[in-house]
Parts: sequence; structure tokens; C-alpha cells
Amino acid sequence: MSRTFPTPAIRRKLSSARYAYQLRGVDPSRSPSENFAGCTDGQWLWANTAGARNSARLRGSLPTLPNPGLQRSTTGADGDATLREGYRFYRLVKQSADARHPGGFKACRDVVDFGCGWGRMARFFLKDVAPERLVGLDCVPAMVEAATATNRWSVFEAIGPLPPAPVEAASVDLIYAYSVFSHLSEEAHAKWLAEFRRILRPGGVAVLTTRARSFFADCERLRLEGAQDAPGRTAADAFGDASRWRPRYDAGEFCHASIGLSGALDDSFYGETAIPESYVRRVWSQWFDVMDWVDDRSRCAQAVAVLRRPDQ
Ligand SMILES: C[S@@+](CC[C@H](N)C(=O)[O-])C[C@H]1O[C@@H](n2cnc3c(N)ncnc32)[C@H](O)[C@@H]1O
Repeated sequence: MSRTFPTPAIRRKLSSARYAYQLRGVDPSRSPSENFAGCTDGQWLWANTAGARNSARLRGSLPTLPNPGLQRSTTGADGDATLREGYRFYRLVKQSADARHPGGFKACRDVVDFGCGWGRMARFFLKDVAPERLVGLDCVPAMVEAATATNRWSVFEAIGPLPPAPVEAASVDLIYAYSVFSHLSEEAHAKWLAEFRRILRPGGVAVLTTRARSFFADCERLRLEGAQDAPGRTAADAFGDASRWRPRYDAGEFCHASIGLSGALDDSFYGETAIPESYVRRVWSQWFDVMDWVDDRSRCAQAVAVLRRPDQ
């Protein structure tokens, strides 16, 4: 029997020991960008997961996590699983900004995390963006409180469910929104796109996700198998009748299903949403140049649109 040596487990231990050694000078009294700016992205993910778990010094130099129930309520997972999903999107945003912003990702100084939730994505950008220039916005005050309580560096603000955002016109280089246009109604989504166009600088980039076509099959399976948890039951109710939704998606329609919520995320603007590429290219082009469409589960759990604000 042939075995690769070192085995994956040994390789993980070796890189863990190497990262711990390389990050031995981290100082909790300094900001994450001072401590971690020189890190590779691989080291950065390690620091945020195994590193923070095993080292009090690293833990004290990084955002903490809210309770697992709150993590799951917005992201469907907790701990390393939810952070890894966040990290994959962080990488994709950086790669997209590098390719599509006229100055690359390094020119993206003012950044908005739209629908920031408890701050899962913002924590990763602390390595690259000055914390006071990354603003997380969310319409659920409890999310903003959780993000603020777990991240003492970044700025988080509660906003209304519809524009305006408390952000000056043409003042932002990069906006990202993970799993927000996966929920907005057609009317709300159009209002926010127009608002993003207002606040982005010419050449500024927006990276937004929505439910992919494959989500219909996931919902159908959840319906047939009987979903165990509340998010699963919601998805099954929304798009579980895939034979009704898939033809609409394939015809380029905006697919939005109500999920009967009330409170800060009410039915008037919030549900489950899948927006097809053809709709994005046809309709979103009134505000943006549509640069890329990424529908590849090995890169992101959701479909991703990369947009650029034209000069005029
Ligand atoms: C599925 S969660 C994703 C949270 C975060 N982006 C992440 O990936 O960890 C969607 C977030 O968008 C926020 N949200 C939904 N509609 C919004 C709106 N109209 N304005 C601002 N935030 C909104 C919700 O409160 C929630 O925190």
C-alpha cells in the first residue's frame, strides 16, 4: 500500500507550528493591520481559526465570535465552518477587486460591508484595510451590536432596510455583500443598486452574491427529505417546488419567494431570492458595468456578480 509522507495530518501540524512561530511577535495592543499586514492569506485563516483557539495572544489580537446560535442564525453554521466560508468569499472579493478595480485591491481604501451580520466578513478585511475605513452596515440592530461587541476595531452602523445609507456620494472604492441579494425583493434590490452607484467612486467595484440555480435543487431535496432545522424548512417552503421556479429562472426572471417573516426583516423587502445571470446583465447594466459572473461552488457557495461603476 502506498502512503504519501508526510500525511495530511502531519503536514497540518507542521504548518501550524510554522505559523505559530512566524506570528510569535503579535502584540494585542497593536491593531490587526499592524500585527498581520505581512501575513499570507493562509496564515491569516489559520490565525483566525486554529491559531486563535490555541493562543491567548492571538485571541486577544483578533475579533472574537458571538454565541454559536447567533452565528448559525445568519450563516447556517458556526466556528471554523462559517469562518472558512467567509474566508473563501474574502479571497474572491480581493481577487475580483484586483482584476476589476482600476488600481487593484490595494487601491480600495474605503470599503462597505453591506448586510454585515455579526461581522464574519469584516474580520478578514482587517488585515488589508484600515479599520476606520471599513464600515459594516446592517438593518438588524442586534447584528450591529454583536459585530461591535466582538470587533473593537471596525465601524458598524445600523441602517434602515431601504436607502439611503449614511455614506457620502462617490466616497467608496469597494462594496461587498454576501448573502444579502439572496434575500431582497426586486424593488428593494433595485433601490440598493442605485444607492451603491451613488456611493461608489467612478471605477469602484461591488461584489454581490445571490442564490444560485443549484439552490432550487437544494430546496427541493430539503422538502422531500423533510428539513430538520428552521433555515432548512424556510428554504424548502420558499423554493421547494423547484419545477415551478427553475423555468422562471431559466427565462431570466427575478425569483423572489416570501418566507413570512416580520420584525426587522419583514416580508415587505425580505425573503429568498435567486437572480439569474441574464437578468443581472440585462437590468443591472443601467447602473453598472457587469464585469464577471461566478457560478462555481468550488469558489463560492452562492452565485457572484462583480460590478464596476462606470466613469460617468
Ligand atoms: C444571510 S445574512 C449574511 C450576513 C453576512 N453578510 C455574512 O455573510 O456573514 C444577511 C444579512 O443581511 C442583512 N440585511 C438584509 N436585508 C438588509 C437590508 N435591506 N439592509 C441592510 N442589511 C440587510 C441581515 O440583517 C443579515 O445580517
